[in-house]
Amino acid sequence: MVRPYAVKGRTLKKRRVEEPAPDEEERTEDVSEVGEQEGDQIEEIVDERRAEEALDQIPGLPINAPVDRAKRPGVIFVLEKACLEVGKVGKNFQILNSDDHTNYLKKQNCNPADYRPDIIHQALLAVFDSPLAKAGRLQAVYVKTEKGILFEIKPHVRIPRTFKRFCGLMSQLLQKLSITAVGKREKLLNVIKNPVTRHLPVNSKKIGLSYSSDKLVNLSNYVATASDDTPLVFVVGAMAHGVISKDCIDDFVSISEYPLSAACCLNRICSAFEQRWKIT
Ligand SMILES: C[S@@+](CC[C@H](N)C(=O)[O-])C[C@H]1O[C@@H](n2cnc3c(N)ncnc32)[C@H](O)[C@@H]1O
Repeated sequence: MVRPYAVKGRTLKKRRVEEPAPDEEERTEDVSEVGEQEGDQIEEIVDERRAEEALDQIPGLPINAPVDRAKRPGVIFVLEKACLEVGKVGKNFQILNSDDHTNYLKKQNCNPADYRPDIIHQALLAVFDSPLAKAGRLQAVYVKTEKGILFEIKPHVRIPRTFKRFCGLMSQLLQKLSITAVGKREKLLNVIKNPVTRHLPVNSKKIGLSYSSDKLVNLSNYVATASDDTPLVFVVGAMAHGVISKDCIDDFVSISEYPLSAACCLNRICSAFEQRWKIT
């Protein structure tokens, strides 16, 4: 049973889709449907959602005390192609995964092996658990799903540690488009407009990571020689296969002679900055 976050307000399901006929009940819809809506339609939904200014509250979603990051440089992460797809399984909307929804996915002619939300969960834990994050040096974290939905996670959010609770949170986010801390107006997680570049500092340098890049760099040296005046944005894939998009990437690098997991890459990036900024 997924942790019952109590979210008020209408769901996209209620707003966009009439009650399904019984024989349609197991069809993938709702947010996967939203995910397929390109550009304008998603932006319309985001605008509409913003206009509503609903104070959705998630009892129990803890946050860390925000650290005063004034004037100190921080790192920006973009996690691309995250596999976060919601489907209606029985009566519930769930984030689909290869272990729990094998039969369901096969019935939909989908390859269960492609449904790996555990990758983005591990990746986010790697970032948010790091001493870098605890020292308040995360400037921003953006996640883009395989379907093109972009959302921001505030640096002081505590990511649910169990996979079930993480999936419950993601499912609610993708249906409600934002999640707000209890008693506060601040949106801790928020679906935002594409492209991600509109949210990045103008002078930032976008570094894309891929095993397939010919440019093998020593990450510690790479980070050590970067200027603190240029915010660095690291783009890492949160998918099982494929390569990140090179759109708007300023440097496309490999950081190891071996193919690594996204979480391992993120650990390395965080460690490189911890060395640089003497965070122990
Ligand atoms: C499981 S991998 C995806 C595999 C994909 N074939 C690739 O290498 O891009 C997840 C992400 O980790 C990063 N990654 C994995 N190995 C890497 C390496 N040796 N150098 C740089 N980035 C790497 C990439 O950003 C990749 O998208």
